[in-house]
Amino acid sequence: MHRRRDTRAEFTGEPVPEAVLRRVLAAAHAAPSVGLSQPWDFVVVRDESTRRAFRDHVHAERSVFAAQLDGERAEVFSRIKIEGVLESSLGIVVTYDPERGSPAVLGRHAIADAGLYSVCLAIQNLWLAATAEGLGVGWVSFYREDFLRHLLGIPGRVRPVAWLCVGPVRNLPDTPDLERHGWRSRLPLDDVLHQERYSQRTSR
Ligand SMILES: Cc1cc2nc3c(=O)[nH]c(=O)nc-3n(C[C@H](O)[C@H](O)[C@H](O)COP(=O)(O)O)c2cc1C
Repeated sequence: MHRRRDTRAEFTGEPVPEAVLRRVLAAAHAAPSVGLSQPWDFVVVRDESTRRAFRDHVHAERSVFAAQLDGERAEVFSRIKIEGVLESSLGIVVTYDPERGSPAVLGRHAIADAGLYSVCLAIQNLWLAATAEGLGVGWVSFYREDFLRHLLGIPGRVRPVAWLCVGPVRNLPDTPDLERHGWRSRLPLDDVLHQERYSQRTSR
């Protein structure tokens, strides 16, 4: 869990053996889900032109975000790589289908987001399994959902939750990229730990 890293610059581009990919996807598919709804799907994207189109869209969205930043933040952000869409070996797009197992999804009646939480657990399983296999994973969220729906033929009710860049890596850095570049640091555990009641604290 501590070795896992969000990966962008370290991909080698070498192919992922089919058996390894299968194990990683099986680990994702073994995740817990609200009402056993298993609301995820996985779209494996290898096609160069599809990946290039997505990468171009991500770059445009990067500029949208960059335009919102002030001087110091803009300067730090300009040095941070936010995707390895073309450098990785393949993309895995993970989606959420709220209609899977509906209408009576056991445990979702009060918290609609529980379906989305389930998809995130599948992604975390995938990420950890890939790490154990010596692969890097980079989560890309600089995109508009409608763009990715259109690009991959995803139906309107289904939400693309993540584009994951996946592949062999030269190494997994000890420190997150954002920390290394001075964007933000991991908080001490005690800053987020409460006993008995949620106590008031300054958010950082
Ligand atoms: C929901 C989610 C979306 C993310 N989106 C991006 C992204 O678009 N680009 C990126 O470079 N990293 C993205 N990340 C990775 C985070 O920046 C990274 O997890 C964080 O900096 C901590 O680093 P670590 O994962 O290496 O521990 C995302 C992570 C999550 C959980």
